[in-house]
Amino acid sequence: MKQAIFGMVVLSVALLGCGEKKEAAVKPVKGDVAAGKLLAEKTCKTCHGENGGGVAPAIPHLAAQREGYLLASLMEYKSGKRTHAGLRDIAAQMSDADMRNVAAYFAGLPPVQSAAATDVKHTSLYEKGKAFAAECASCHGEDGNAKTPGTPTLAGQQPHYLVTSILEYHRDDRKMTSMKSVVRDSDRLDLESLALYFSAQTPVQRSTPTHGDAVAGEALSAMCSGCHGARGVSVDTATPSLAGQDAQYLAKATKAYRTTRQNWGMQRYVANLSDKNIDDIVAFYASQQPKPADQILGSVQELAKKCDRCHDQEGDASSTSAMPKLKGQDKDYLVMALRAYHDGKRESTTMHNMSFPYSNAIMDNLASWYASQPMK
Ligand code: HEC
Ligand code: HEC
Ligand code: HEC
Ligand code: HEC
Repeated sequence: MKQAIFGMVVLSVALLGCGEKKEAAVKPVKGDVAAGKLLAEKTCKTCHGENGGGVAPAIPHLAAQREGYLLASLMEYKSGKRTHAGLRDIAAQMSDADMRNVAAYFAGLPPVQSAAATDVKHTSLYEKGKAFAAECASCHGEDGNAKTPGTPTLAGQQPHYLVTSILEYHRDDRKMTSMKSVVRDSDRLDLESLALYFSAQTPVQRSTPTHGDAVAGEALSAMCSGCHGARGVSVDTATPSLAGQDAQYLAKATKAYRTTRQNWGMQRYVANLSDKNIDDIVAFYASQQPKPADQILGSVQELAKKCDRCHDQEGDASSTSAMPKLKGQDKDYLVMALRAYHDGKRESTTMHNMSFPYSNAIMDNLASWYASQPMK
């Protein structure tokens, strides 16, 4: 009899185990919140806070994060897919049940109030760029629309190109005393904020007279449009738009690639052009309607809509989703995570592709914006 009962117990335990495994394959087993709380207080509190809020910059908030994502992250630290020495050691000590429990506990906490909400305006690189741009206004115009022949318009120009070209003056690759002295003391983030500001302005077509033949220029421009875009409106952040640019500047800049300006692609294309060819091409591009750089920069909110498709969908209540919420997350942590994806240091093909086109300035702005939003 005793034997029989024991046998039955063993059998039902075995069945239970079986059922549990099957369940797990279909939907994750619910964690034990009370057990998760105990573990969190013992092991996580020093960094992730009593309330699930990161206690210092660059430590993520876990409160109200999706359960499925918390669980997936912990498993990735344990397996080594996500690298962070501290978390790897902590996760290595945890059983699958510990992870489920602690994920359920943090996911169930109310969101922490984000402190960044009040200072987002001060951290906006666009505003910072706008303030710097005052130094450039005497030559390039207040909004980057220059009026003096020979001085390029910066409004609507591609952002990566703006940064590169300023660095070229710094390094003296492009010789122009006025430009070198103006931008010498800027650091990288200042440059990116300037680029952010100028590229978001609407360019106005220049009216400097040209002496080339625009029709002949249009035919020749076929070999330029692969990089500079149809009718000189570039769609690549590192390649400048030429449409509507100042004719005198365009001619000088194009010819400079035959002598002083270094750029392998450009040198190859310009080497065989005569002065007449260049004047014709310039006449064509200068007469085209300019358009502002694609609004990856225009407003961060617009860009964030792309991100929200995956991250912060309205009405996405599924707690098992492995998609992290970004709203209300710690700003420094978001910046760090984005840069890690961008540089391929945190593994995720999707996020690498998403973050790759963006400069540090944009990632910083996106992070500020998300950090300032209330987590839902
Ligand atoms: C010594 C400080 C420290 C302790 C203790 C700690 N964490 Fe963390 N945690 C961090 C830091 C820093 C990160 C960001 C790591 C990275 O960049 O991947 C992080 C990231 C995480 C993430 C990923 C969050 C996200 O948004 O991607 C999870 C989940 C997490 N921790 C859970 C825990 C749990 C659960 C515990 C306790 C069992 C714990 N942590 C203990 C510092 C800590
Ligand atoms: C004293 C007048 C002057 C001031 C002030 C000035 N610039 Fe310039 N800038 C020029 C001229 C002239 C050129 C064209 C130089 C050349 O031919 O290479 C130029 C070129 C540039 C270019 C290259 C554009 C391109 O299409 O390649 C950038 C970018 C630029 N300036 C940014 C700035 C910024 C940013 C500021 C303010 C921080 C500034 N400039 C202030 C006169 C000025
Ligand atoms: C292989 C791609 C490619 C092709 C083809 C190409 N360009 Fe460029 N062009 C670039 C890149 C990239 C830059 C920025 C280089 C730099 O930083 O100096 C540039 C820069 C320029 C500039 C300087 C703009 C400024 O604001 O200073 C002019 C003008 C220009 N190209 C004209 C032309 C013309 C005209 C042709 C066709 C005859 C042409 N390019 C063909 C890639 C290309
Ligand atoms: C196609 C879906 C998709 C889109 C669109 C997307 N992401 Fe992600 N994102 C993911 C996935 C999946 C992860 C989790 C990857 C991992 O495990 O590291 C992630 C992770 C992140 C993280 C890490 C969060 C944390 O808590 O560690 C950040 C930050 C982030 N994304 C920012 C963005 C931004 C900003 C955009 C828009 C420019 C964006 N994502 C667009 C799918 C997407």
